[in-house]
Amino acid sequence: MPEPAEPLSEYRTGSDPRTLRDALGCFATGVTVVTCLDGNGQPAGLTANSFTSVSLDPPLLLVCVAKNAASAAALIRASHFAVNVLQTHQQPASIRFAAKGEDRFGATPWSPGEFGPPVLRDSLGVFECGAHAVHEGGDHHIVVGEVLRASFDAGLDPLLYFRGRYRRLHFD
Ligand SMILES: Cc1cc2nc3c(=O)[nH]c(=O)nc-3n(C[C@H](O)[C@H](O)[C@H](O)COP(=O)(O)O)c2cc1C
Repeated sequence: MPEPAEPLSEYRTGSDPRTLRDALGCFATGVTVVTCLDGNGQPAGLTANSFTSVSLDPPLLLVCVAKNAASAAALIRASHFAVNVLQTHQQPASIRFAAKGEDRFGATPWSPGEFGPPVLRDSLGVFECGAHAVHEGGDHHIVVGEVLRASFDAGLDPLLYFRGRYRRLHFD
């Protein structure tokens, strides 16, 4: 009889929150900073990797925003928002927009996009969106935007996130 295969050392199963987070972290993603203007016209935004495309016609995308995020209220009320897809050299911006007590927009080069929300300079891609819908998603809001303008720089390498760490990918 053949010997039973050695179990993979990293294989785990469970219904606890840690296992769920670690399992979800096996899905490699890009990294975005989602921005808008709040009710006072001040820039607001946060790092988010829950970004995904939804529809091509009409052009829709979504991002999931924690209900307890400080910028959540501004994002679900904003008429427009921008999804800035980050490139390798924007890792400091990703860290800044995920940390409390940082001067996020003071320390990051940006300018107002065509529709108002901040566009981070040197982003790999930018989707400027009109608010389309906000859906209930447990402890997150599912924020759906209609893409009004998309731009990208094909020469830049993407910033990635996988298993709780930033990763890089370089194309020659
Ligand atoms: C790589 C990465 C991805 C993240 N993705 C999300 C996300 O999709 N949605 C979310 O609500 N928070 C996400 N976060 C956490 C927020 O960036 C973080 O909680 C931030 O401090 C929220 O800012 P705020 O409370 O000022 O809105 C992510 C953090 C990191 C580092």
